[in-house]
Amino acid sequence: MISPSQRMSVVKPYVFAKLNKRKDELKAGGMDIIALDMGSPDLPPNQEIVETLVTSARNPNKHGYGGFTGTAAFRKSFTQYYARRFGVDLDPEKEALPLLGSKEGIYHTAFAYLNPGDVALIPDPGYPTYTSGTEIAGGTPYFMPLLKENGWLPDLDAIPAEVLAKTKLMWLNYPNNPTAGIAPLSFFEKAVGFCKQHNILLCHDNPYCENGYDGYVAPSALQVPGAKDITIEFFSLSKSHNMAGMRVGVILGNAEAIKLIGMLKTNVDSGPYIGIQDTTIAALTGDQEWLYERQETYKERRDIVVAGLRAVGCEVDLPRATIYVWARIPPVYTTAAAWGEYLLEKKGISLTPGTAFGAHGEGYVRISLGTSTKRIREAMDRITA
Ligand SMILES: Cc1ncc(COP(=O)(O)O)c(C=O)c1O
Repeated sequence: MISPSQRMSVVKPYVFAKLNKRKDELKAGGMDIIALDMGSPDLPPNQEIVETLVTSARNPNKHGYGGFTGTAAFRKSFTQYYARRFGVDLDPEKEALPLLGSKEGIYHTAFAYLNPGDVALIPDPGYPTYTSGTEIAGGTPYFMPLLKENGWLPDLDAIPAEVLAKTKLMWLNYPNNPTAGIAPLSFFEKAVGFCKQHNILLCHDNPYCENGYDGYVAPSALQVPGAKDITIEFFSLSKSHNMAGMRVGVILGNAEAIKLIGMLKTNVDSGPYIGIQDTTIAALTGDQEWLYERQETYKERRDIVVAGLRAVGCEVDLPRATIYVWARIPPVYTTAAAWGEYLLEKKGISLTPGTAFGAHGEGYVRISLGTSTKRIREAMDRITA
């Protein structure tokens, strides 16, 4: 046996890897599992986007390395999108770093900044990679509770001064996974001011900005005047344009941070496949109307889930954005894991216990809307039966 690195002592199996193993065992035993756990969109991108990928794939000259940061047109497509969508001006050469999906960018940001003893402020509940990236890099997470009574926003004023003195990064994510909370621009103004005051890099993760309902349009933290001095924002096409499998995203904003993270990345990976770069350009600069129609599909599913959960006594708010429903467990259960296990083992429904996202997720479950409407309806019928 060769001993693993000390670094591996903080590495745990990724939450969905563990869950998928149990699902596979149950499926092998003949159980029909409805997966409402991972936030993986079941729908494809629109036809124009798919055709672009097919055309690129047929071109024999497009199968080599795609360049560390891709083509100029690819980089520019992100800044064009930010200009049109948010009114934010960015330099595609210095203020945009393409990613192979935002997950790796989140991980690499921790490695670019954190020494042992350095702190990263992390929302709890929150996307697990903020914590695992911090810990594997040797940094220390400080969890900011997201509470319903605070509208799922962290109380920045409650962070102790001695923690702030050691803090280098602050992670925020609105529209929020898993709570489906949203943040007004005034909250980002406060966060930018706070990070400037305490010399913290504000890392805003914005993959759900195109997943608003009922007319809600999510902002970018970069809309705050002067945000670029201290802020980077992560954007991804996984949820915005149903392109999760293509692995494409970007970091936008502060040029110094982008240069540093980019330098690290050139040692670790290479840019996306050129066909995916072409596809991204088509997705970000082409027709966006289909996104509204796609949201109508999610909205129908959201309403089915909210009605089903309320029928069994769950307290649940109607999400204004994201592809998730965040619900309190029925009062007869004491832990999220217990209800999750019951639903999986007895009803064949796989959802994510809130504790997968942090200690403050206890008492909640997250339901993903990235499964067909028919199957979501069936899952709610099984739950209410
Ligand atoms: C908040 C948040 N950030 C980042 C990601 C990673 O997205 P990707 O790596 O597909 O761009 C996800 C995926 O679910 C997410 O929910």
